[in-house]
Amino acid sequence: MKLTDDEKAMLDGKDGKTVQRAIDFLIRYGEALGAERLVDTNNVGGYLIATRDNYRKAGGNFDTVFSFTGLDSTETLELPRVKAYSTQLETDMDPEYYELQGKDIEDYNRYRANEQYLANIGIHLMCTCTPYLVGNVPVKGEHCAWMESSAVVYINSVLGARTNCEGNSSSTASMLTGKTPYWGFHTDEHRLGTHLIQVEHAVQGMMEWGLLGYFAGKAVGEKVPVFDGIRHIPRRDDLKQFGAATASSGGVEMYHIPGITADAKTVQEAFGGKKPLYTLQYGAAERREAYEQLNMLGSNRDVDFVMFGCPHNSLEQTWEICKMLEGKHIKDGSSLWILMPRALKDTANRNGLTRIIEAAGGVIMSDTCPALGRIMPKGTKVMATNSAKQAHYLPSIMGIESWYGTTQECINAALTGRWEGELK
Ligand code: F3S
Repeated sequence: MKLTDDEKAMLDGKDGKTVQRAIDFLIRYGEALGAERLVDTNNVGGYLIATRDNYRKAGGNFDTVFSFTGLDSTETLELPRVKAYSTQLETDMDPEYYELQGKDIEDYNRYRANEQYLANIGIHLMCTCTPYLVGNVPVKGEHCAWMESSAVVYINSVLGARTNCEGNSSSTASMLTGKTPYWGFHTDEHRLGTHLIQVEHAVQGMMEWGLLGYFAGKAVGEKVPVFDGIRHIPRRDDLKQFGAATASSGGVEMYHIPGITADAKTVQEAFGGKKPLYTLQYGAAERREAYEQLNMLGSNRDVDFVMFGCPHNSLEQTWEICKMLEGKHIKDGSSLWILMPRALKDTANRNGLTRIIEAAGGVIMSDTCPALGRIMPKGTKVMATNSAKQAHYLPSIMGIESWYGTTQECINAALTGRWEGELK
């Protein structure tokens, strides 16, 4: 790999042993991927959380944990302050609700110590999978190094930033060096469309965007779909749900909706003047199939858990839920969890949204989600959600049944304890 002078100096140990190890890791990783150089990044999103087991095994030493999980090293390396602007993405629990999430005081103490450790080395504690809702909004063309598939597909496609879907070690190494391998979605060529999806059914509202995304991810895998025929301009939250769905049923990290997403104004531009490798149709039959796949694991209509906020809710989404819930109460024995970034929860508190949800028997949580934290209300058997991503993952992770539908259908399920959703 061709290295710049500052990269060579890091490799020679100018900035200490830990940075030396980090740049060495990025070089080896980049070479394995065929990258010819590194590129500067000043926006890294990672996930530095010590699990209970790792933390215990390391004798409570975070350097030991993150040397191993973040730098591929069995030797304990002291992590210096990060070079790049770095964001902590979602974590494994909400410390405010640790008991409700089935955690104990040992977890709580570990979590708080982990936060302090990260703050000390300069990592910003946004603790959300939607940092772009709370101030970390990369600009078009900006080279980033983010983990979290739903965030990666959003910033690549909607914002036109450039990132691959990084792992623990590569994102940690990028935080410490301000570098990432120049390959994949950092390059113009890799961002071009591969599959044309002709959308023949109207797509309006978040549930419909989830269905289209779920179909597309399954159809294209890790390729780059280009959507033609979209008649209704999506809202930001539709695109948030949509990208997450494409990255769940498939591994989509970038898509184009010409004229709406950042990279291309026309279908031709999205393909770089080339022909699509494949052309697919999305019509009534494909829509129904996606719906049925997402509801495949629902047989019992007695719902005891309703979950919103995958990816984490915007303020608008929580406000919409409040309008449906105000003055009502969820069924006894049911649980309602709404996940949103902590920075937005503060506004929800001030606006009275939290009060409305709590009066209805629900809870607003931050920092985590059921799939990532492997947390659910005790005894949950059947979930309802408006998130294709959570409906895709949670049943297999936690062994429950689930239903996927509109926000209103999910609210109805929370109020009555029954799933009455259907594809109209
Ligand atoms: Fe976020 Fe968890 Fe969904 S991390 S995208 S809420 S699976």
